[in-house]
Amino acid sequence: MRKTLIAANWKMHLLPVGARALVAGIREAIDPVAATLAKDREVMVAPPAILIPAVAQALAGSSMLLGAQNMHYEDKGAFTGEVAPPMLQAYGVTHVIVGHSERRHIFHETDELINKKVIAALQHRMTPILCVGETQDEHDGGRALDVVLRQLQRGLENVGDEHVPSVAIAYEPVWAIGTGRTATPEQAESIHGAIRGAILERYGRGRADAVRIIYGGSVNDENVDSLVSKPDIDGALVGGASLKADSFARIVRARTC
Ligand code: PGA
Repeated sequence: MRKTLIAANWKMHLLPVGARALVAGIREAIDPVAATLAKDREVMVAPPAILIPAVAQALAGSSMLLGAQNMHYEDKGAFTGEVAPPMLQAYGVTHVIVGHSERRHIFHETDELINKKVIAALQHRMTPILCVGETQDEHDGGRALDVVLRQLQRGLENVGDEHVPSVAIAYEPVWAIGTGRTATPEQAESIHGAIRGAILERYGRGRADAVRIIYGGSVNDENVDSLVSKPDIDGALVGGASLKADSFARIVRARTC
């Protein structure tokens, strides 16, 4: 059985005090049911890199996992402003969001660069959350699936077959991110099914069944149940609604079936 992954992407929000308060608020709501939740789901929060040490402290003793929003693929070197995988590991980071559409479109990250980050995360035993998704124009032009499958294939290039189940895929249609226009559960499920189909064709049934494909784009506490109850939607990557403890805690408790 695939464990549901509910992941918070705080983007470039919060200061240390606010981040600690947010973690405390989420913990207050979910710590009492942590044992039940842990049976079938993983919960992760990805703060801005500079807040990782503070959030790591605030998470001590919690079952919530710590993620990063981005990283460099080299272990060290002359890369001003970047953060290396071992630096994240030193604070207990277990998941890394890779190739988020804001990284692709604002910071011009290419599939090639994103692929190097996926491989680096796996080498450091962190779960890469590989983001794929089409823009509004690509969506309107009927090219969503082509775009998504190309990003998937390039993102997984040279990843050993046996490591593919350790990658989480996040389908995030760019037109749904931060817009309040979420994909319908049927729209999302159809893309998720196609992603799983492509993985099945290339890597076989066992790996396709094991890989998690989560949805992102205006997920909130009202629409999450209908999304994650679809058979191929294995969780959510949540931006805006993850910045409020009560709404994120409700998303964490989503009904999955
Ligand atoms: P949103 O962001 O939930 O605010 O749409 C999702 C994301 O960008 O990961």
